[in-house]
Amino acid sequence: MDMIDIILDKRYGRKLTDEQIAYFVKGATDGSIPDYQLSSFLMAVVLNGMDEHEMTSLTLAMARSGDINDLSYVDGIPVDKHSTGGVGDKITPILIPLLASFGVTTVKLSGRGLGHTGGTVDKFESIRGFNAEIPFDKIRDMVKASGMFISGQTPNLAPADKVLYSLRDVTGTVDSIPLIASSIMSKKIAGGAKALVLDVTCGSGAYMKTEERARELAEAMIKIGKLAGIDTCCVITDMDQPLGRCVGNTLEMQEVYEVLTGRGSDDVIQIVTTIASKLITMASKDNGMNEEELKAECAARLKDGRALSHYVELVLSQGGSVNSNGSPLYVEYPFESMYVTSPESGYITRIRADIIGKASVMLGAGRLSKDDTIDHGAGICFYAKVGDKVKRGDRLCSLCIGENSKLPDEVLYDVMDLVHEAYEYSDSAPEKSSVIIDVLS
Ligand code: URA
Repeated sequence: MDMIDIILDKRYGRKLTDEQIAYFVKGATDGSIPDYQLSSFLMAVVLNGMDEHEMTSLTLAMARSGDINDLSYVDGIPVDKHSTGGVGDKITPILIPLLASFGVTTVKLSGRGLGHTGGTVDKFESIRGFNAEIPFDKIRDMVKASGMFISGQTPNLAPADKVLYSLRDVTGTVDSIPLIASSIMSKKIAGGAKALVLDVTCGSGAYMKTEERARELAEAMIKIGKLAGIDTCCVITDMDQPLGRCVGNTLEMQEVYEVLTGRGSDDVIQIVTTIASKLITMASKDNGMNEEELKAECAARLKDGRALSHYVELVLSQGGSVNSNGSPLYVEYPFESMYVTSPESGYITRIRADIIGKASVMLGAGRLSKDDTIDHGAGICFYAKVGDKVKRGDRLCSLCIGENSKLPDEVLYDVMDLVHEAYEYSDSAPEKSSVIIDVLS
């Protein structure tokens, strides 16, 4: 087989065989195909696309390029959830214990944050003592004991994706539905779950800026899931403003605790209960309840402490510390160091999530490159969100830094200016819209 022929076939829009795709993935993983040929092939895919059979073949080859997590010891159907990226997205830490309260097992291999979106592992690591680097051979005992596990991705999970993703990042080939869909689904298949809900975010803070693109990505991943034998459902959610009440690692985990003690904002609760009810049904643990009944039952378990007790179990089982109320202790506590006030009166119509994400990275909450350290206490707390009416001078949000942060004041002023750019206003109230745009399966 010759890589030049494979590139030319894709360049002229011809359908690739499974053997050609397997050859490309093997060469990407073992380094036998040079980066310039890999990049040229990726660009041909960006320009000419792939059909569902090619996408599935690429996904499976990438999944098999490393370890496949064997979850056959799990009693029942192991589930997983993935978000295509957001700002203020704290769904996973709420969802895992909620699912455990229904007897649904989740083994979650999550990423760290890079750029304007946060990572679930960083959020958990804001809890004192929490270990998100537990070796794979310990998973089995922990999953059997509690039905829950959260860890960073191991180096041998879909290694082909790591090679291809870093090349895509520097060759203008990230934005391609077949490449994004196969990248996400290969890691999910390698993770070992048998039922999967994907939260496909759309809007300013998401990969997919429009609803149309989000639907295209969702449909591609559902097709791959079907052909690969994984029950897959997609929830399309709005990421045109940050999710919930705050952005930042400790701040978001404090918000997680609020939701698990019956407080929390509507948008977060809607997404959590929608995804949970889907996964509970897919795992056949619905006890005959229909979707609306299941959502109400999920909301009840967030209020009455049933989900919280599983959260405490998860935190303790991975080495984290909690106080007597079950509230975690954090490595760094946020300190509100500056308030951002409204420059005008009116209704807030938009808070650009991408700008808020960048602003929180400047405060220290995220990374610009893989090796940056983060300030777990840094982030942004919202006092007003889309639809709220504000007067000139009202508080919009506060800029937080960790108690030990050495961030210079000039940076805080720059962040304040940037945050002002995120807010848009109107004299009339914007139409109310749901954070759940659609559910596709
Ligand atoms: N997330 C991934 O894991 N891969 C992509 O290509 C894009 C988003």
